[in-house]
Amino acid sequence: MSRSPRFLTAFEQGDIPLEGPILVIRPTEFAGLAELGAPVLEQGFAPQHHRFEAGGFSVAPTVEGRFATVLVQLTRAKAENLGNIARACQMSDGMVVVDGAKNLGIESLLKAVKKITEVNVISKSHGKVFWFEATPMPQEWLLGAQMAKNKDGFFTAPGMFSYEKIDAGSAFLAPHLAGLSGRVADLGAGWGWLAAQALGADVSEITLFEGEHLALEAAKRNITDERARFNWADVLGLPKTEPFDAIISNPPFHQGRAAMPELGVGFIQAAVKMLKPKGRFLMVANRHLPYEAALEARFRKWEMKDQNGVFKVFEASLPKR
Ligand SMILES: C[S@@+](CC[C@H](N)C(=O)[O-])C[C@H]1O[C@@H](n2cnc3c(N)ncnc32)[C@H](O)[C@@H]1O
Repeated sequence: MSRSPRFLTAFEQGDIPLEGPILVIRPTEFAGLAELGAPVLEQGFAPQHHRFEAGGFSVAPTVEGRFATVLVQLTRAKAENLGNIARACQMSDGMVVVDGAKNLGIESLLKAVKKITEVNVISKSHGKVFWFEATPMPQEWLLGAQMAKNKDGFFTAPGMFSYEKIDAGSAFLAPHLAGLSGRVADLGAGWGWLAAQALGADVSEITLFEGEHLALEAAKRNITDERARFNWADVLGLPKTEPFDAIISNPPFHQGRAAMPELGVGFIQAAVKMLKPKGRFLMVANRHLPYEAALEARFRKWEMKDQNGVFKVFEASLPKR
């Protein structure tokens, strides 16, 4: 079996033409993309978006238009994937190719599509790629992926962090946000619940920094207070900003399915860069995540303010620079 990416094997074996415009939804890797000619990429996660842009690809957080072929690469969220397959069918004048690892649920998507139309399949590298002629998919697939109010009354969509309900870690941090003042930032703000809790009377401005484009769009609908600013950005690559009086964060510790506590350490570093000398940093983390050494190395003062069986809340000040 060749080592080229699964989707390229499908293009080769399925005689899928490379001539017309090709759209790739949610790519994460460079491998094989250049072989598709000059594909248009849809990627709303800022760190990946910027990488593709820097690599010379045409990339946008959301894409509309008509394409000869649409390739869908899977995310971790089934409802988002079903929605992307349905959108791919609407935008393709030819084939739709779906590519994903087993642990992203490619098998159940294949089953779902097989009930609707005839598909070709190749199994390769712990996953599958299947392709079929674009055909209308169930309306529920489109609706299921769209932004809607969750049970707590906030706009979210599948694929966003804790989209069904307020995250328990953020809820544990929230009582510690009372009395924040001046310019505040939320690093990794998601759909905005935590930032909304920080908007006390003494806050003059709050900036929500979030990597997922759609999550930030949801946050804009959830926080209509005119003190709120919204910044679609990779927190790990932020340029120097005007410094903040307080920074709050429930940092990410996963990328795809992989646990990456170093992401949280990167968020701590970003906070150090963005705080005023007397600014305060408040973060929540799962108890098992080792952030103490990073706080000790980067702040003159820090303490664990609260803990329960699952989470711990840290407050740090006097950033070392
Ligand atoms: C643990 S969630 C917290 C979300 C939100 N504050 C809440 O309480 O519901 C972390 C957030 O960071 C975002 N994120 C992950 N990596 C990022 C990066 N490099 N730059 C900006 N945001 C990122 C994720 O999309 C996610 O929304």
